[in-house]
Formats: sequence, structure tokens, C-alpha cells
Amino acid sequence: MTTNVSPNLAADEVISVNGLKIHYPTDEGVVKAVDGVDFKLKPGETLGVVGESGCGKSTVGRAILNILDKPGKIEGGEIAWRLPDDRVIDITKLDANSRMMRSIRGAGIALVFQEPMTSFSPLHTVGNQVAEALRLHTDLSEQGIVDRSIELLQMVGIPNAEQRLKEYAFQLSGGLRQRAMIAMALSCEPRLLIADEPTTALDVTTQAQILDLLRELQQTNDMSVILITHNLGVIAEMADNVCVMYLGKAVESGPVDEIFANPQHPYTQGLLRSIPSIYTRNVERLPSIRGSIPHPFNRPSGCTFRPRCPNYMDGVCDQNTPVFQPLEGTSQMVSCFLHHKPEEQTAPPAEGVA
Ligand SMILES: Nc1ncnc2c1ncn2[C@@H]1O[C@H](COP(=O)(O)OP(=O)(O)O)[C@@H](O)[C@H]1O
Ligand SMILES: [Mg+2]
Repeated sequence: MTTNVSPNLAADEVISVNGLKIHYPTDEGVVKAVDGVDFKLKPGETLGVVGESGCGKSTVGRAILNILDKPGKIEGGEIAWRLPDDRVIDITKLDANSRMMRSIRGAGIALVFQEPMTSFSPLHTVGNQVAEALRLHTDLSEQGIVDRSIELLQMVGIPNAEQRLKEYAFQLSGGLRQRAMIAMALSCEPRLLIADEPTTALDVTTQAQILDLLRELQQTNDMSVILITHNLGVIAEMADNVCVMYLGKAVESGPVDEIFANPQHPYTQGLLRSIPSIYTRNVERLPSIRGSIPHPFNRPSGCTFRPRCPNYMDGVCDQNTPVFQPLEGTSQMVSCFLHHKPEEQTAPPAEGVA
């Protein structure tokens, strides 16, 4: 299992996710939460993963850490990750409780998510919990652990760090709790931080502060970040590349500048139109995407976006599944029949790309 070498990670990449599929088999049917997602990250890069609620973003994040909620099951694809000794392993093949997976979770990849209240134990002080993370993943002395805990809280901008370590999570404001959670995630200097809606529950001012903090920490540590959000404004500010997801599939990806200047998928175009802008007059209704995400058990045939798509082509989009493929003359990838060659619009294309 440990010699499970994957060829799909270039020397300059930290992680590469290829054709990932994750299903939740439930009593009512199978939820295809992730149904084909591909992306790669280099050191120090930020990838924004964006899409409406329910499109599978958190499931991707949790799969990378091998902490899928039950009954989630990886159905295909791979997650290639480089170990400190330079071996490349496929995380999807590791046992969730294996020693290797536990060490990756602590020291290689860390997760920050939306509701820090649920990730802190109500029974232990913040200090105890930060110390516990350090104890598990470093060989610091007890005094070293105390010093490092204080340093971490100071680093994420928590005032009176020494005092705060003695407090419980419920005694902290939402913003401070989110900072403490980031401190805990960074305690072992991860090479990849997955931030799942890290600021969604916060007011705008605190949100901006937390995003600044993440950016600053990332620059100092050359850490890669996967930033999961439904907010394209956050992506514009933070990310180098973006992966747009719809109903479990990556539908468009590429450099943020290109995607914002020249979105190619009608879904991306709709998402971009629904960002409130300082140029949008209050009296106007914000244009957005018509309809809503279909129920997971009621996925449309062909392109799953077609019932909401303003560019729907009868006899094409309902008949075949578009392939996620590079778009000529750009660095973008897109899966849409508008960008397939005419001869490809009738022949059923192969599912997915390797
Ligand atoms: N534990 C679970 N059991 C069954 N279905 C789930 C579970 N967790 C998530 N799902 C379903 O998987 C899909 C993707 O969910 P999620 O990854 O949370 O999306 P997002 O983070 O983009 O909002 C949704 O349809 C959701 O209802
Ligand atoms: Mg989510």
C-alpha cells in the first residue's frame, strides 16, 4: 500500500486530483456528489473551488483528507500526493485510519472549515487543543509546546494570546474562533491548507481580515491553498486558478484572470453575472442563473446544466455528455457543447478525460 506510486504528479506539483468520483449510497438512491473533478496545485498557489451549495465542494475537500462522512465512497479517480520522502501516493487507496494517513492529515494537509464551534471541544481550553495538535505531530518539549501555542495565536492576530489559551471556544467571538482554528491548522506547518468556506459565517470586516491573514501566512510559508467558496468575489481576491463545479463535475477551470475576463461555460457566466458590483444600480434586479439545482436523484440526462442553460441546444445537450477539455488558444478547460467541434456534437463523446 505504501508503495502505491502514481505517475500523475509532476515534479513541480503538490497535489493532483484526477477524475475523482465520490458517491453516497443512501436508502433512496445513490447521490453522485462528485462525478468527475480534475485539478492540480503547485507550491504557494491558491486554487478556488466554486459552485452553488450542494455541488460537491466539501466532499472533494474531505476526500483529500480521507475523512468522508458516511456513507461516502470513492468510486473512481485518484488523489496524488507527494510525501516528505518524495514518494508519490494515491490518497484514495489509503486506509482512513492508517498511520500514513494520520501523519498526512496532521503535518501535510490541514483543514479549516466554516463552523469552528463544531471543531473545538467544549470541554477543553483552546490552549489544550492547540497543544494536543502539536503533541501529536511534533516532538516539542512541554515548554516548547506552550511557547509555540502562544506564538501561533499571536501569528493569527489574536490579542492577549497567553490569556486566550486558557479560555474555551465559546468564550471567543466568531472571528477569534476562526483565527484560533487557523492557528490550530497551521500548527504543524502544512504544505496544503484546505479552507472550506472559512469566512462564510463572519461579518464582512472580519471576513476581509481573515482573508488577509490567510494570504499573508501563505506567502510566508509557501503553502498551497484550496479555497472552497460559493463566493466568486472571494475567489477574485484570493485565487490564482479557479475550478467551477456544477452538480459534482468540474465544468470550467483555468487562471482566475482568464476566467473572469472570458468565462466560457454558461454556468460560469451566470455566476459572474450574479456578483453584486459597485456598478450595479440598486434599482436593478441582479441578473443571475434561472432555476435551481436539481434534486440529486433527479439528474438531467446529457449535460446536467441544460435545464438552466440560456444556450441550450435541443438534440445536442440532452443527448450526450460534454467532455471536459482544453479550450484552444486559452489556458482554460471547459465542458460545454458550445465549444465542441460540430462533428462532436452528435457523436456520443467518451465519458471524462484521463
Ligand atoms: N453524508 C452524506 N450522506 C448523503 N449525502 C450527502 C452526504 N454529505 C453530502 N451529501 C450530498 O452530496 C452532495 C454534495 O454535498 P457537499 O459536498 O456538501 O456540497 P457543497 O459543499 O458544494 O455544498 C449534496 O447533494 C449533499 O446532499
Ligand atoms: Mg460545503
